[in-house]
Amino acid sequence: MHLANNQYVIQNTPVLDLCNEFETPLYVYDGSKIEEKVNILKSTFSDVNMKIKYACKANTNISVLKLMKTLGVELDVVSPQEIQLGLKAGFSPKQITFTSSGVSFDEIENSVENDVLVNIDNLPTLEKFGEKYGNTVPVMLRIRPNVVGGGNLKIMTGHKDSKFGIAIEQKDQILALVNKYNLDVVGLHQHTGSDIKDGQTFVDAAKVMLELAFSFPDLKYMDFGGGFKVSYKEGDAITDMAGLGKILTQEFKTFCTKYGKELELWFEPGKFLVSECGYLFAEANVVKENPTFTLIGLNTGLNHLIRPMMYDAYHEVINVSKPTQAKDTEYNVVGYICETDDFAKNRMMPSADQGDVFCFLNAGAYGFTMASNYNSRFKPAEVLIYKEKVHLVRARETMEDILKNQILVEL
Ligand code: LLP
Repeated sequence: MHLANNQYVIQNTPVLDLCNEFETPLYVYDGSKIEEKVNILKSTFSDVNMKIKYACKANTNISVLKLMKTLGVELDVVSPQEIQLGLKAGFSPKQITFTSSGVSFDEIENSVENDVLVNIDNLPTLEKFGEKYGNTVPVMLRIRPNVVGGGNLKIMTGHKDSKFGIAIEQKDQILALVNKYNLDVVGLHQHTGSDIKDGQTFVDAAKVMLELAFSFPDLKYMDFGGGFKVSYKEGDAITDMAGLGKILTQEFKTFCTKYGKELELWFEPGKFLVSECGYLFAEANVVKENPTFTLIGLNTGLNHLIRPMMYDAYHEVINVSKPTQAKDTEYNVVGYICETDDFAKNRMMPSADQGDVFCFLNAGAYGFTMASNYNSRFKPAEVLIYKEKVHLVRARETMEDILKNQILVEL
């Protein structure tokens, strides 16, 4: 989104036109931004056999998934439902990996039945897998490397107190199961966390994994997870992709030479690919003066974008109805849910009026996918703009959606 002729546009479409046509609250995704991010990642690792496995939990709209497929990206999924969405979007089962975390064995079986590679995160499930499939079905192992990384405790997954993965200290137990069932371990996986600024964290985790890899002679894939930090505001620190690309490429090439085989290097980014492509538009229901602060109350809330409340995440908020006015007034921006759902505090913005349209940046990842029907409100519509064409990719919910599956009984 940028200013052109004193109005905000996304790929030449004025955003206020989008809001008029599709109404607010509205999620809009800029497909060209996704394409740009895919290309950055591809060129960063162009010297190794790198594959992008988009962590689709970040944004599972099937048209976004389809765009990913068109761009040569594959999928990392975490539920049977995400497998189905991936297949529906046109991915072949071979392009999908099911990274399970403490799921029921039914879901592992479901993945195998769908011909989707399973990534197992605990020893009891690995044992069951061995009992049932032996070496007839390839498997990946999710390892917890005991590396600390991520923007806050809630989104750190690779440290020793995390629930995720099989602890690296349990290497002997893993190998015992692999030998007992002659398991066909084709890949090792780790994911340290989300919003990881420091490239060294990726290198540290990679080193742990590459050392472990020598204990598994038939690997095809090394999966270093996702977690690249994107920018949420001007001047924000982000993962130095170019620097990381150089170091990891070198490490990986040296490893492959020693290992005696060129493996595929996988990443599973979510935010890196879709955070910055997404915008949530909402309207001011009220501008409310209080003795000590003024708030802008929007027609959205934690039901549509929970990241500020759940992680104290910073999202830039722009009054797109006042594109050129001076930012001379301080506001708190809040939602309309009957809970404290503060989006932003003490932000300098143009003087606001009821009916002004506001835009949240970085709304493409973990925005809609974490939305709910709390307060029995509808989830917003979603629009994808690609090659300057505007596509409605999800209709706004209606009362029928709220009542669907509810049963009014005779009492
Ligand atoms: N791979 C695995 C196994 C993951 O669990 C995740 C995210 C990713 C990849 C992608 O991470 P990303 O590149 O998006 O950082 N809802 C939180 C983030 C939770 C991430 C969960 N796992 C947020 O909005 O900050």
